[in-house]
This record gives sequence, C-alpha cells and structure tokens, in this order.
Amino acid sequence: MKILIKKPSPDLKAESLVVLPLISAELEKPAKKSKAGTGLLSRLDAMSGGKLAERLRRAKFKAKAGQTFVLNAIHENLPATLVLVGWEAERASEFETISRYRRLGSIAADVAKRSNAPEIAIVDAHLNLKAESNLAALVEGLLLTGYTFTHHKSKKDDSPFELQEVRIHSSQSVSSKSIDAARRACEATLFARDLINTSPRECTPTFLANHCRKIAKAQHLKIDVFDPKALKKMGAGGILAVSQGSSEPAYLIRMVYTPKKKTKKNLAIVGKGVTFDSGGLSIKTAGGMETMKCDMSGAAAVMAVMSVVADLRPDFEVRAYIPTTENMINGQATRPGDVITAMSGKTIEVLNTDAEGRLILADALNLAEKDGCGTIIDLATLTGACMVALGTSYAGLFCNDDKLADLLVDAGDRAGELLWRMPLAKEYKDWIKSHVADIKNTGRAYGGAITAALFLEEFISKARWAHLDIAGPAFADGDSEHVRKGGVGFGVRTLLNLISEY
Ligand code: BES
Ligand code: MN
Ligand code: ZN
Repeated sequence: MKILIKKPSPDLKAESLVVLPLISAELEKPAKKSKAGTGLLSRLDAMSGGKLAERLRRAKFKAKAGQTFVLNAIHENLPATLVLVGWEAERASEFETISRYRRLGSIAADVAKRSNAPEIAIVDAHLNLKAESNLAALVEGLLLTGYTFTHHKSKKDDSPFELQEVRIHSSQSVSSKSIDAARRACEATLFARDLINTSPRECTPTFLANHCRKIAKAQHLKIDVFDPKALKKMGAGGILAVSQGSSEPAYLIRMVYTPKKKTKKNLAIVGKGVTFDSGGLSIKTAGGMETMKCDMSGAAAVMAVMSVVADLRPDFEVRAYIPTTENMINGQATRPGDVITAMSGKTIEVLNTDAEGRLILADALNLAEKDGCGTIIDLATLTGACMVALGTSYAGLFCNDDKLADLLVDAGDRAGELLWRMPLAKEYKDWIKSHVADIKNTGRAYGGAITAALFLEEFISKARWAHLDIAGPAFADGDSEHVRKGGVGFGVRTLLNLISEY
C-alpha cells in the first residue's frame, strides 16, 4: 500500500472514494462557507446542487465523535463514495485521542474494501498529523485492518482485494519518515499475527527456532538456539520439565542486537513460547484448549520486534529470550507433585502442570539475569486469572520499577495497547511457598495473576523488570476496528515505541 501526501485539491474531482472528517459546525450551514470548517463540505454541496446537504439532513447525521456516514452516488460531480467521519472535539485522554486516528484509518480501509476501491483519499480536515503518534495511528488503522490469514486455505483468491494507494490531502508538512516507521511496526505486527494464527501442528518450537534464525540473518543479530542437550547442561529444569511430555524438542532462543558504538546499556525482552498448551496432566477442558495455539503470543511479539530492531538503530543492546516448548502428555509427562530444579538452582514443586508458563520463563529470566541484563521485560499469555481481572482489552502490568512502568504505559497508549498496573503484592508471597520445595507453581483460589507474577519475581535478582500478562488481549474472538479475529500481535508496537524512546 502506497501512502502519499498530496496538496489539498479544491474539488476532489480526481478521487472516487473520499474520507472526510467533519465537525457539527460545518453541518449547520453547509450552504455557506462555515468558519469552523475547511469550507470543503459547502463546496461539495454546491457541486451537487444541494443534494449533499439534503442527504445529510435526511440521515440526521450530526458528525458526533465516532459517527460515520457512507454516501454513495450522490451526484456525478462528486466522488462516487464519500465517507464522513464525525470528528467533534471531545475531552479525551491521550490514548483516546490517538485511537481516533487509528479508527479513522480503520474505517477508511474497511470502506475501501467494501466498495472495492483500490485507491482512496483522506482529507486532512481537523487532523493533526504533525503529531507523530497520530500519524502512526492513522497508518496503523490503514495497514492492520485489511489483514486476513489465508495460509491454510486450500482455495486461494487469485485477486484478493488490496488497498493500493492512500492519498492524504494535506497542507501540513507530514513526515514520510514517520510513515515509514509506522509501516515497519505494522509489518512486524502482521508477522506476529501470522505466527500466532499458524496451526500448532506447523508452528512448533522448531518452527519458531527456524524463523528466529531467518530473523537473525536478516537483521544481523547474534543468535544461540539452546537445544535439549544444551538445556540439560545449563540445568534449564523448568523448560525441560514442561517439554518432557512432548515429542517436539524444546529450545531456549537468544538473539542479540548490538549497536555500532559499544555500550553497556541494554534491554532484554522475553516471550513465552508455548506452541500448544494442553495443560499437561492437569489437562484443560476441550473448550479451554481450543485457542491454546495462542500460547506463544509473547514469543511472537518478541520475534516481531527483533525482525525490525536493526532498522530502528537503537544505540543500546536489545536482547531477546524465547523459551519455547509444547505442553503435552505422554508417559514421561511431568506429574503434579514432581519437584524440579530450575536453572537458577531454586527447587519448584509442580502442583499444576497447566501453570507451565512460569516454569519456562523462570529459566529464560534467569539466563537474562546471568547475561547481565539491567532491564528485562517479559510478555506472556500467563493466566486466565488476568482475564478475569481485566477482561480482554487490558494486559496486566507487573513491575518492580515505577519509571519503567510509566514508560511502558505511555508506549502502550501510543500503540493503542492498554496496560493496567497490577500489584506485586508481598502480602501473598507466602501463597507460593512449598512444604517440600523452595516454591510451588500455584497460588490460591484468588489473585492468580498476582501469584504468577510473584513466582516470576523469584527469578529476578538485580534487574529492573516488567511482566506483561497478555492472556486477555493476545487473541481476539472477533473483528473490531484494526484488530482481526485470531492473533492480535499485542505488544509488538508497545515494545517498538519503548525502544525508539528508551
Ligand atoms: N496459557 C494459559 C493461560 C491462558 C488462558 C492464556 C486463557 C490465554 C487464554 C496458562 O498456561 C494457564 O493454563 N494458566 C493457568 C494457571 C493455573 C493452573 C494456576 C490458568 O490460568 O488457569
Ligand atoms: Mn497452561
Ligand atoms: Zn500456558
């Protein structure tokens, strides 16, 4: 999709589908040039001999925020399709303000698809595209909304609809560099979606490792793939215990981006990569298992970030850690009651084999610590309890450093990804104490997202650390705005925003 900035044209004659943000003051006197608006609506109305105003009156369109009106074939002098988007100013948080731009892009992409219009125009009326986050959000709406996953379809559409060109009519100096950055972030997001949506029969730990090798090659990253033999040597008892019941080998993957100029500054990102979570012997219900190919969404996000990291040219090291395995059942599967020794040396009583994410993350976090990472951020579809607490729009954010937490929430707001700070409640620390081992991998009936985070904290000694429980927003059960049913790619743009401002 080409995204071009064009000088505003007074009559829009050359355009067949035009998206026009509007405020109500422009509707009140469409026949005369309204002071509040750009005058474009009144010009268009005049060109249509008053037909446009007539249609708007009949439809009772008020240009309220969030209101959209699609007009087709109003008059031969006008664009075939006119999409009016209510842009009434409203008091809104930064998140909401930026989200409006994403929604605008999403509406534009959606109407273009439904109208089968490969080229569209967006009129920059009332928009502030000089603000980089607004422009990025608009591009995100345009690029993320049309996503479909056809990899497993036997019949492929030979000419699927493609929005080829978007012309933004604007007299502002809109940065094409920002457009390129947003485009890169979207491509990374779509890559994560593809990985998540791929059948777990194909998307195995080996599949993820192979993808990582490709990413490392393309982005000139150093990569280590620790295989089961290496994991045994390293004492990665958490990862090995979870993979024990599977025929697929498990891996701990490490990728490192090193900047040209030597530096001690670094950031580590860690992603849970359970390619299928059956629950193990503490088996899930049939329904609970249906979406469990999404249990590598954290890994997908980390891989997506690394797939563009060198293009961002950060002046610090970015290190990725991906523990990846299946959680399956066979005669060797880990038993509830088994005591294992994690890489850090801590012993863990595994009381529920379905609490496997924390076991593999324990080893990954420990390796990151041993490697001297000062700041570690992990992303994991870790607990159903986090979904109970926050629903599907918010990720739970657990963090041992207020500044890092604020940075992440801000980066998330700009990405359209909501993070909600949750407590690392020391009051519940006793809940993961074990009678027979150092700790156990389950808590009590309540506060499951917190006890999972407290478990992870046991493997952090010095680092500044944030844990994002993305179980809620990682996988969508339907389409809404720029999010499509299935893998969301949640966290990719939050992390990219963080890296570019870190
Ligand atoms: N992968 C699941 C969490 C999950 C649930 C992610 C739903 C996405 C959607 C995780 O491994 C799990 O099973 N957690 C258990 C922990 C419990 C046994 C302590 C849970 O949340 O029930
Ligand atoms: Mn599980
Ligand atoms: Zn899981």
